Amino acid sequence: MKKKLIAGNWKMNGSLAANDALVKALLAGLPAGASDVALCVPSVYLAQLQDLVRGSRIELGAQDVSAHESGAYTGELSGAMLKEFGVRYAIVGHSERRLYHGESDQLVAAKAKSALASGVTPIVCVGETLAEREAGKTEEVVKRQLAAVIHANGHCISEIVVAYEPVWAIGTGKTASPEQAQQVHGVLRTQLKAASAQADRIHILYGGSMNAANAAQLLAQPDIDGGLVGGASLKAQDFLSIIAAAA
Ligand code: PGA
Repeated sequence: MKKKLIAGNWKMNGSLAANDALVKALLAGLPAGASDVALCVPSVYLAQLQDLVRGSRIELGAQDVSAHESGAYTGELSGAMLKEFGVRYAIVGHSERRLYHGESDQLVAAKAKSALASGVTPIVCVGETLAEREAGKTEEVVKRQLAAVIHANGHCISEIVVAYEPVWAIGTGKTASPEQAQQVHGVLRTQLKAASAQADRIHILYGGSMNAANAAQLLAQPDIDGGLVGGASLKAQDFLSIIAAAA
């Protein structure tokens, strides 16, 4: 069985002092290595984090990556730049970026492709809104979002990480039940299998109010290979408990 991956998504939170305290508390409490651990931090802190996690098994992630290699794209960061700071993962297509920055399925697919070309593993987020779920469109939405990434990336698809994050569960304290989450993860796995003979290798993470209390049950589902954790990743004890639940 593959190791679970627990990735923290700090979003726009942190400061030099707070990051230092949080990472030191994580390093002091990290349980023995049965799962992979990553922190996706605001990019201005990557250099600080690179120093803090050096020699540990915590990997670094960014929260976005440009679809372009270089040039006149004010404000953007390329995969090669992230790579220089030891970045292993980049979240792409988070629902907050789809919503507040108008990112389309095609742009998300191009970002995933650009990350892969730089040797950065994209964590591709998909997920339905509450209105889409209530209209019975969950499968249609997540399959459409993932299909764009599969179409743009061909056989490289086995190198990505997928995160199923129902939008209604993000930051709301409302988690998908283990059964609801597994049902969608199963759909995504089937779609990945149709695209790649290596689909069983692909991590499909669950995200959306994962916490110390609900992590074990979610992570026990056959197609839930880890978590993308927002709020609870900002509290050392909570994040450590989730990592322990994945071991
Ligand atoms: P949450 O966020 O754990 O705070 O719900 C998850 C995410 O947005 O990645």
